Amino acid sequence: MDAHAQAYFDGAAADQITLGANATAWQDWQLVPRVLRDLRAGHTRLTLLGRTLQHPILLAPVAYQRMAHTDGELAAAHAAAAQGAGMVLSMQASMPMEAVAHAMGESATAGPLWFQLYLQHDRGFVRALVQQAEDIGFQALVLTVDAPVHGARDQERRVGFHLPEDVSAVNLTRLRRSAARGQEAPPGALCAGLMEQAPRWDDVAWLLQQTRLPVLIKGILHPDDAVLARDMGVAGIIVSNHGGRTLDTAWPSACALPAVAQALDGALPILVDGGIRRGTDVLKAIALGASAVLIGRPVIHGLVNAGAVGVAHVLKLLRDELEIAMALSGCAHLSDAGPALLRRRNGQHVR
Ligand code: FNR
Ligand code: LAC
Repeated sequence: MDAHAQAYFDGAAADQITLGANATAWQDWQLVPRVLRDLRAGHTRLTLLGRTLQHPILLAPVAYQRMAHTDGELAAAHAAAAQGAGMVLSMQASMPMEAVAHAMGESATAGPLWFQLYLQHDRGFVRALVQQAEDIGFQALVLTVDAPVHGARDQERRVGFHLPEDVSAVNLTRLRRSAARGQEAPPGALCAGLMEQAPRWDDVAWLLQQTRLPVLIKGILHPDDAVLARDMGVAGIIVSNHGGRTLDTAWPSACALPAVAQALDGALPILVDGGIRRGTDVLKAIALGASAVLIGRPVIHGLVNAGAVGVAHVLKLLRDELEIAMALSGCAHLSDAGPALLRRRNGQHVR
């Protein structure tokens, strides 16, 4: 990657405390394996929003993937399809959403394909985008709520980051040119401009009325927000701090997850992302109450190194590691993983 791409993909907000803490927080959960359990007929399958998935790993929405590889999101989709993974396509994807849906649709074992969106001030625009996602066959919407404004991206500022000429948010530009400007604002304009327009819970209620698709909310850390989302009728929650790219020093996902799971008490499926790098991290997420996990930067690194093959390889490694971790922990099925499998580094149990 050149310096621009690296600052964008690998960088995070400010001092990158949350970026680092996301990864170490999974490591701070220690596995207490069970032995001699019956592992016959073991598998990694699960049911999520009424659909059977081969395993609990999805590709997180990551914008502008053509900056990592010329095939961008299309390569990621082929890899997801080949490896039975789900994919969440970013609203700021750099490949047409139809092409991505087509690539995923070719495989019978592909995981679900969801469309991620940010609420824009222009409701007509959001409605048109949602309509398009429905028509193309996306199976759920993921509303990202943790980035009403851009984080303080010091890495990007240092290199003077800008998108290459041939990479853009193609699904937005064709709908409305001005929307592609994203969420940048001139310094000092936050309170007067973007904060006035920042989405509110009312807007979530509005979105739920615009679509027949299930809506998941991505970017929740506070258990009280998880409860508000549940009461509003969303289909699921993604516990996430945007990979540390928005509010630095925010709670690591691996710490927020058990709190959110406790607050929701099984009422909604919970997914989680941030710092998931190993099969053991996936197993820990499931043990802490997640149904599935998403991975962001590992997908980019696979893309940079070898396009679709690289992403497929990343997914295969994680799947294999998950199976190894399950077998070595005495879990034949994901549902066998629970809080009893984990202990905090300081000795504390989950519950
Ligand atoms: C993101 N993320 C993100 N999230 C989202 O909802 N819409 C988006 O367009 C993007 N774009 C994006 C770009 C890049 C370069 C990164 C690294 C991340 C956040 C992403 O979905 C996810 O929450 C994190 O990437 C998960 O953390 P890890 O796996 O990267 O540690
Ligand atoms: C980011 C935006 C696109 O994290 O979500 O870069």
